[in-house]
Amino acid sequence: MPKKIRLGILGGGGDSLIGILHRVASQINDNYEIVGAVFNPDHNASIEFAKQIDVPTNRIYKDFDTLIEEELKLPEEERIQVCSVQTPNFLHYPMAKKLLDNGFHVICEKPMTMTYEEAKSLQESHTKSGKVFALTHTYTGYPMVRQMREMIKAGALGKIHKVDARYYQGWINPIIHDKEQRSSVWRLDPTKAGISSCMGDIGVHAFNLVEYTTGLDVKSILCDFNYLYEDNQMDVDGTVLIRMGEHVKGVIRASQVATEEENGLAIRIYGQKGGFVWEQEKPNFLYYFEEGKPLQVYKPGHQYNSEFSLEGTKLPPGHPEGIFDSMANIYLGAARAIRGEAQNDGAFPTMRDGVRGMNFIEATVESHKSGNVWVELD
Ligand SMILES: NC(=O)c1ccc[n+]([C@@H]2O[C@H](COP(=O)([O-])OP(=O)(O)OC[C@H]3O[C@@H](n4cnc5c(N)ncnc54)[C@H](O)[C@@H]3O)[C@@H](O)[C@H]2O)c1
Repeated sequence: MPKKIRLGILGGGGDSLIGILHRVASQINDNYEIVGAVFNPDHNASIEFAKQIDVPTNRIYKDFDTLIEEELKLPEEERIQVCSVQTPNFLHYPMAKKLLDNGFHVICEKPMTMTYEEAKSLQESHTKSGKVFALTHTYTGYPMVRQMREMIKAGALGKIHKVDARYYQGWINPIIHDKEQRSSVWRLDPTKAGISSCMGDIGVHAFNLVEYTTGLDVKSILCDFNYLYEDNQMDVDGTVLIRMGEHVKGVIRASQVATEEENGLAIRIYGQKGGFVWEQEKPNFLYYFEEGKPLQVYKPGHQYNSEFSLEGTKLPPGHPEGIFDSMANIYLGAARAIRGEAQNDGAFPTMRDGVRGMNFIEATVESHKSGNVWVELD
């Protein structure tokens, strides 16, 4: 049995939304041990949190630079091997870059950076480093998403002609209508979130899911954003037309003010031979339309699924796979890459996905600002 991978955590403190998802996911397949962290910019809060979750406090550092400095002094066999970056967006680039430049593997939250420029610079650091970089587009880890990807690759839809991805949330609705509240949320602050709120935070997940499942690149986009108040012009809603080929077209719809929607990510893909429908809030059902046949419903764990899909299922059919399992599958892929083991194509979102995501986000802003015009992606 290989030794556990020594994991460091940046952000993801007790006050965070996503920290628990990463911590639990990293433990699900018994691959990682949390050995060091900066959970919070307040050192005492970091230490208190470490005590609460039973992580030894001797490697809870006061800040990120100190973590790197002190870890590099340790013998390699004790040093953190991979750091998971779970901070607000503006810290992803400086943290991930310094980690890669100093020989650490990186698991990083999306959006990968603040700008496309930063994304390309991070890609250079990554190439030079030869280290593993995994981007946590969580939804790619679901067994039914992986099944859809594998079936599309094997030709289940024939030639694809239409893609419709939507990501509707409602949590910003009660915030946006209150002046004080809308000025205190980091996702609505361009210095912390980047140039886009809605497309940067959730539209990019939908974009990634489109490319991940179809295996096609989005070539050009046309975007129309909405914001609700002049004193905060960050997009809270947007509709993006996408072209993936001469006759492959679609739409990405995202909203943070879709009143009372929860985490409504869904994708519909149609081709000459059939179609797929998958919804994140019911992740264990993959609907497959085959031309001229009754609707088929695929579920996790059955032997009719691909080996890649089955690898992400730990219990027999009927034991629901959820968001923790989905993220755990990404951590599993990263663990195998760190250990240099063979793995399936698509086991975790990569640097390329991060670069494409930033290219997409910037293109949506450019398209909207230029009067809703078509913009090419690189
Ligand atoms: N993959 C997904 O589905 C998904 C879901 C939610 C959030 N996210 C991403 O995860 C990231 C964090 O989002 P969140 O909602 O958890 O944010 P959050 O504001 O709830 O938590 C951020 C955490 O980072 C810590 N932090 C802030 N500055 C720090 C610093 N200098 N050093 C160390 N820690 C610091 C905070 O103390 C807090 O614990 C964002 O980039 C977001 O886009 C991804």
